[in-house]
Amino acid sequence: MSKKIGILTSGGDAPGMNAAIRAITLAGLRNGYEVVGIYDGYKGILEENFTELTAESVFGIFSKGGTILGTARLPEFKEPDIQKQAAEILKKHGIEALCVIGGDGTYMGAQALYNHGINCIGLPGTIDNDISSTDYTIGFDTAMNTINWSMDHIRDTTLSHQRCAIVEIMGNHCPDLTLMSGIAEGADIIVTPTHKLTYKQIIKKLNNLAEKQHRRFAIVLVAEKMPEVNVDDLKKMVSAMTPFEAKSEVLGRIQRGGAPSSFDRLLASSMGAYAVQQIAAGKGGIVVSWHHNHLSTLPIMEALSLPQDPHKELLEVANTLML
Ligand code: F6P
Repeated sequence: MSKKIGILTSGGDAPGMNAAIRAITLAGLRNGYEVVGIYDGYKGILEENFTELTAESVFGIFSKGGTILGTARLPEFKEPDIQKQAAEILKKHGIEALCVIGGDGTYMGAQALYNHGINCIGLPGTIDNDISSTDYTIGFDTAMNTINWSMDHIRDTTLSHQRCAIVEIMGNHCPDLTLMSGIAEGADIIVTPTHKLTYKQIIKKLNNLAEKQHRRFAIVLVAEKMPEVNVDDLKKMVSAMTPFEAKSEVLGRIQRGGAPSSFDRLLASSMGAYAVQQIAAGKGGIVVSWHHNHLSTLPIMEALSLPQDPHKELLEVANTLML
């Protein structure tokens, strides 16, 4: 019987997950493995919802957004009994190595299965870029491009109507999408978990912009899930307390879809093939990272314990360029 590698995608989908599935499949087949796709993340293990992946079944998928395997969030997977049951199911099917593509919750699941004897490797797949062990997560670059595309459109109408656009950006407590797309987009104000501003400070900055710089439009980006600033409340305050008529938008899940960018295809394909090389070399309990244009690995728990990069220089850059 040939050896088997399982693949699953878990948590929020991200552009480039399919490119990673393709790369793992092709590299797996070339290394003599059978490759098994597991549908809907960890849920698919418990439901034994598997499919054989072949060169034909992954043909051309690298340019598609989402994940052909489906994804799910399964909070129950924190329970030791469920983890044990999942490991037993994988062993019953001869799946002794597993590539998981997802965020930190996905990595936790991989560590649990590794403790039960399944050789797991994590690939960082999330638009949030909130995995500190890697410079970039699969999907982040595409989401940045989508945000900048969307903001170009929003800016056209904001400028034409001389309004203030207040836009909520995804990121799940990580500032990267808001901070980096804000710099790339020339936002006037950004509000993130590492660059917190109060309503009062935002109003003051906007009044300065209107009075001292005679600006008739403004762009404000606000990271999601910040208890301090809500885009709808901010819209009302800006309309009432500044010369600007304000409009608010939540960009939402448009940020998660679409064809992956060239960089995400490169990242996902490289990480996928590299992960299989690690499995073939008998390594596991690790995650794959992209750091300074090099691929490397780190034990899962070590990767999870790394602190978030505060991007000090980028914050200074943003402050220099903003109001
Ligand atoms: O983790 C990716 C992400 O898009 C976050 O940015 C966001 O907070 C979350 O998923 C939304 O998840 P869901 O689509 O399940 O509501």
